[in-house]
Amino acid sequence: MRSVITGSGIGLPPNVVTNEALATLMDTSDEWIRVRSGIQERRYAEPGQGSTDLGAIASRLAIADAGLNPADIDVVLFATMTPDHVLPGNGPLLQVALGLRDIPTFDLRQQCSGFLYGLELADLLIQSGRYRRVLLVGAEVHSPFMPWHLGWDTLIGRETRTITEAERAENTLSRDRTVLFGDAAGAVVIEGREGASGLGPIRLHTDGSGAGVLTMHGASFKRRPFVSHAQIEAGDTLPVMSGKEVFRSAVTLMPQAVREVCEIAGVAVEALDLVLIHQANLRIIEGVQKALGLRAEQVPHNIERYGNTTAATLPLLFHECRAQGLIRPGMNLAFTALGSGLHWGAAFYRT
Ligand code: ACO
Repeated sequence: MRSVITGSGIGLPPNVVTNEALATLMDTSDEWIRVRSGIQERRYAEPGQGSTDLGAIASRLAIADAGLNPADIDVVLFATMTPDHVLPGNGPLLQVALGLRDIPTFDLRQQCSGFLYGLELADLLIQSGRYRRVLLVGAEVHSPFMPWHLGWDTLIGRETRTITEAERAENTLSRDRTVLFGDAAGAVVIEGREGASGLGPIRLHTDGSGAGVLTMHGASFKRRPFVSHAQIEAGDTLPVMSGKEVFRSAVTLMPQAVREVCEIAGVAVEALDLVLIHQANLRIIEGVQKALGLRAEQVPHNIERYGNTTAATLPLLFHECRAQGLIRPGMNLAFTALGSGLHWGAAFYRT
């Protein structure tokens, strides 16, 4: 029995925010963002639209794409670092939104590697024989992290206002992170099937000594209260990131992980048809491509249009590649990601 992706779907919020639009709120430029990250635009959710909402859009499409109904799903794995609530997780909310049966739902917290960790769990659940049809969702609404108290409606085109110099200076403090992230969802249905295609091997890693490289100090249950006005005013509710360290780890650890799964699969890295890499930065994607000795066309990317959508990037990229006809039967694929934790790894997939 192999775990096979039988359907995929995406959920994109309607608001397209260009680099130029961001430059109206802070000291940045289209050129800086494009050159350093490859990003040209990203999507922002509507006010009140959460990661469960986007995940539900993606899930309905994935379930229909698999030729199934919501009642056919046996278990949900929901990966997000931006849940609708601290509690409960998005799983039970998605169950209600989709009208799923009384089935178990798991919430995963592996940030950019959330989808990859979900693939491993989905495979194990299917191999155990306890579940036949897994719905794996990666969804994020990052935009509420952004500290633009007075710029929201301008960005999504609901008002035109010139912000003050003080507001601009405040927005500029977090520009190294805010320009990178966008909102989106992707979902896949994974089913047990006999045959040669399917998932595996998968190798996952964690190095908690790197936890401080990308973390969020505010809204912490080590504090009393766990969130306060002072923390919000200090910008403590925005993730902090050592961009260069994340960059260095990404371009070394993702290629290692891809080599690891190829070796176990007995497939040469050059024989991979496509490598789907977590979309954090185009320079990272190109670095991984070069480290693996791959051609550009073996490494598709869509970061230009969405920015970094954390747990959503891999299912979003997978779905778009399928829709564009880049993924065909009999191909060797690898998925790889690295993110906050640090968590990273790779999965081999034969279509
Ligand atoms: N616009 C204009 N200038 C900026 C911006 C901006 N948006 N952001 C930073 N700068 C400035 C800095 O202030 C700095 O100025 P200075 O030299 O006067 O001090 C200058 O640009 C260079 O900044 P660096 O940090 O050296 O830029 P770098 O080339 O390292 O690129 C970046 C920064 C894009 C963040 C890069 O390091 C990166 O992508 N790292 C990986 C990030 C990543 O992958 N994060 C997600 C991880 S996944 C997850 O789990 C969520």
